[in-house]
Amino acid sequence: MGKLFDMTGQVAVVTGSSRGIGKAIAHRMAEHGASVVISSRKQDACDAAAAEINGLVRRDACVARAANISSKEDLQGLADFALTTFGKVTALVCNAASNPYYGPMLGIADEQFVKILMNNVVSNHWLIQMLSPQMLERGEGSVTIISSIGGLKASTVIGAYNVSKAADLQLARNLSAEFGPKGVRVNCICPGLIKTDFARALWENPDTLKMATAGSSLKRIGEPDEIAGMAVFLASPAGTFTTGQAMVIDGGAVIV
Ligand SMILES: NC(=O)c1ccc[n+]([C@@H]2O[C@H](COP(=O)([O-])OP(=O)(O)OC[C@H]3O[C@@H](n4cnc5c(N)ncnc54)[C@H](OP(=O)(O)O)[C@@H]3O)[C@@H](O)[C@H]2O)c1
Repeated sequence: MGKLFDMTGQVAVVTGSSRGIGKAIAHRMAEHGASVVISSRKQDACDAAAAEINGLVRRDACVARAANISSKEDLQGLADFALTTFGKVTALVCNAASNPYYGPMLGIADEQFVKILMNNVVSNHWLIQMLSPQMLERGEGSVTIISSIGGLKASTVIGAYNVSKAADLQLARNLSAEFGPKGVRVNCICPGLIKTDFARALWENPDTLKMATAGSSLKRIGEPDEIAGMAVFLASPAGTFTTGQAMVIDGGAVIV
């Protein structure tokens, strides 16, 4: 393997990595040489994902630690676990998010809006606050937030989620400016429709899927690995001049 995408010696923490996009990111980062901390709400699901990736990549590539992103205490536990286990974290991927409400902005309950903003924005900010000081001290590291093309578009059904994903783009820009002088980069990835449990309602039925992908160049849904490649890029030597960006990977949905 060439060195451009080599993550040997790096330590990645990926939230929401027991399945879907997060698991693909954990797998591909491990495959490119990183040690990876797998995390989601359920320890058994994290253990299973770590065992599966270790079986595919190498025996000690991944370790697992449950953390609910709603809990600041859980996130501190995750950060402490990663630092105690590996002595450093060089690549943080804030991937887990929630969307408990579908419907017009006019109908959303306060608790639902607050939960979306807390889980999708403030939790990312918390984990970055916990893990970026050691990156800034060493003068190296990357933070990648999984936003969404929803953060670039209007919506009449997932409006609050889109507000949270737009806020992630701004969080990355702010932190990019704040951390850049010390050598730490912060970016977002904005996936389009990807075949995971999160978007199941949009792809399970072939007719719904056809409608959901009609307005894109490639006319198809994406696979988690098609996002994982960008995450590896951003954390590896190939991405060292990239910061503050919203990397759109959507099969040409936003541009059509
Ligand atoms: N799929 C798409 O079409 C799409 C498009 C644009 C953006 N995205 C974004 O991509 C990211 C990943 O989505 P996905 O499609 O891969 O979802 P997914 O397949 O449903 O996986 C979600 C992962 O997050 C974990 N998780 C859920 N709630 C959590 C919480 N409160 N605390 C910690 N972990 C939690 C889940 O495990 P547990 O259940 O064990 O906690 C699982 O590992 C999200 O930020 C989403 O907004 C997805």
